[in-house]
Amino acid sequence: MSYKRKQSFIVRNKGEKDLVLSLLKSEGEDLKRLYEDADKLRQRYMGDEVYIRGIIEFSNICANDCLYCGIRASNHNVKRYTMTPEEIINTAKTIESKHSATTVVLQSGETPSLTDHEIGKLIERIKRETSLAVTLSVGNRSEKIYRFWRDCGMDRYLLRFETSDEKLFKRLHPDCSFGERIDCLYALKEIGVQTGSGFMIGLPSETLETLAENILLCRDLELDMIGIGPFIPHPDTPLGDQKNAYDSNKEMFFKALSVLRIYNPDAHIPATTAFDAVFPENGRAMALKRGANIYMPNYTPLEYRRDYMLYPNKPYVDESTESCVARVISLIESLGRKIGKGPGHSIKGRD
Ligand code: 5AD
Repeated sequence: MSYKRKQSFIVRNKGEKDLVLSLLKSEGEDLKRLYEDADKLRQRYMGDEVYIRGIIEFSNICANDCLYCGIRASNHNVKRYTMTPEEIINTAKTIESKHSATTVVLQSGETPSLTDHEIGKLIERIKRETSLAVTLSVGNRSEKIYRFWRDCGMDRYLLRFETSDEKLFKRLHPDCSFGERIDCLYALKEIGVQTGSGFMIGLPSETLETLAENILLCRDLELDMIGIGPFIPHPDTPLGDQKNAYDSNKEMFFKALSVLRIYNPDAHIPATTAFDAVFPENGRAMALKRGANIYMPNYTPLEYRRDYMLYPNKPYVDESTESCVARVISLIESLGRKIGKGPGHSIKGRD
């Protein structure tokens, strides 16, 4: 069923959006309570385990020209790379044996840097040669290709809708419509792949209403995983001179995360890297205390990491995987949490 038809089933009651808006406006004692409630819900539904999902950014080649993204096709300052299947498999094996990760997330620009067939073969090999769960994040594809990858063993897929404001979506994405993006998400859900989506917080010209709608859209889509993070202007993009809509109110990034948890109590929500880019001291730690339950360290080999700059000031581009894992484990333990064992699949639909 296409997005347009599905949309007609989503009847949103106005009071609901007002409630989200009022939560996003919390201050003082109310704000303290919002953060506590989000943390309690996270604990009740998701437990104290923090799952480590290791990301490998296997190619920065992209055919698309999304206005915010540092690896957009028109950015000729980027040195383009694609890891070989052998390099990807070896990295996956290392993160499994040495780094407590139980999932590998394979992410790239949106183009056949490896063909869809090669990606399928890669998934099959990782599933055969490791016990890792495999999450893929390579953009819009047809249901047929998603099915093929599922049959190769793909467990999950990440594809953010970026913003629920259709007009803004159109302005930001010359190569894709909002409806197409949402259709991809429904296709993934329909074929039984655990589906993750999410959005950026504070895109230029977005309003608080947009943020409230973004949160409610996540709820309506009944997502298994939801990743959100602040928009960070990249100087080599058309939005390079714009500011984040909450530049002078950065607390909003955490408010958004907590309200997201309240409306999606049983979704896996990562403390995304962009939180650390905005708050280098403790962004992801704070996110874990305010609703998040997943940590996604970057295990892209160091030689490529600097070339996968979706936004500037991406932290830890020079950190070795050894010191990264030590840091992550000590962070999780310092918060009184545990490292998740097993794949950490979706808990949706379970009693
Ligand atoms: N600022 C913050 N997040 C960004 N992403 C891409 N570019 C930026 C940026 N400039 C996010 C998008 C995408 C994810 C992989 O990275 O939400 O889905």
